[in-house]
Amino acid sequence: MQVISTAKELRYINGKLNLSPVGLVPTMGALHEGHISLVEKALSLSPLVIVSIFVNPAQFNDKNDLKNYPRTPEDDLLLLGKVLRENDIVFTPEVKEIYPETDTRKFSFGNLDNVMEALHRPGHFNGVGQVVSRLFDIVKPDIAIFGQKDFQQLAVIKELVRQTGDKVKIIGSPIIRENDGLAMSSRNMLLEPEIRKNAPVIFKTLSAAAEMITGHDIPEIKTFVGKQINNVPGFDIEYFDIADDTELIPVSSRNEMQKGKRYFGCIAVRAGKIRLIDNIEIGLV
Ligand code: PAF
Repeated sequence: MQVISTAKELRYINGKLNLSPVGLVPTMGALHEGHISLVEKALSLSPLVIVSIFVNPAQFNDKNDLKNYPRTPEDDLLLLGKVLRENDIVFTPEVKEIYPETDTRKFSFGNLDNVMEALHRPGHFNGVGQVVSRLFDIVKPDIAIFGQKDFQQLAVIKELVRQTGDKVKIIGSPIIRENDGLAMSSRNMLLEPEIRKNAPVIFKTLSAAAEMITGHDIPEIKTFVGKQINNVPGFDIEYFDIADDTELIPVSSRNEMQKGKRYFGCIAVRAGKIRLIDNIEIGLV
């Protein structure tokens, strides 16, 4: 694999290799098996895979979160070195490569701006839109792979591409979990030991909620989920919503769930000092 840190060089090598389709896996580093599954998906589809590692300041609405975000550059390269091929590229730009000038673009993602993560992390998706469109502009991928753990982010990126008319195909890749069910996330390494021990409660509760849909309506399920999470010391639920996977409009009753649509229970939890998100498909009854 080749490690490249400037946009100019990346464009040059990409042009010289002239391979297609080009597969992009955008990441913020602190890589784990979840990221590697995205890379493997890209490898199965593309003769040239570009993995970007860039902690994007624009998407952090909390300065401390940006400061504390895990950074493990050496380990990241070791991990990628085990899976990437000779031609594949790791793109590790500095901030000035991505944002030579301050990016003042304001995106509007419709309903996606008014639900779940968008309500709790103001400006977050605008920053995601900025960095992803910059990466698309530099890398010119034919395919880009994103994790389904970031359920709303995936919908936002699809909407971004719909709006810009970019030809890149967006592919969502399944959540990878630890053996105890906790969804893999770079932030997991920041969990305090006691909190980490109890963190599987999130997926356990989501799984129970998915089962409950057969005999209970949504308000009851939401109450159940809230109690299960908040009963664990150090855990505090921010939201749990059941929403469709395109517009992400939360439903408040089972009657609102439409045949032919897919629904997901989406959760955000404060686990000690760390914020975790997860989701599960809720089958229609
Ligand atoms: O999901 C992430 O890691 C980031 O939000 C992304 C898509 C790499 C943009 O910075």
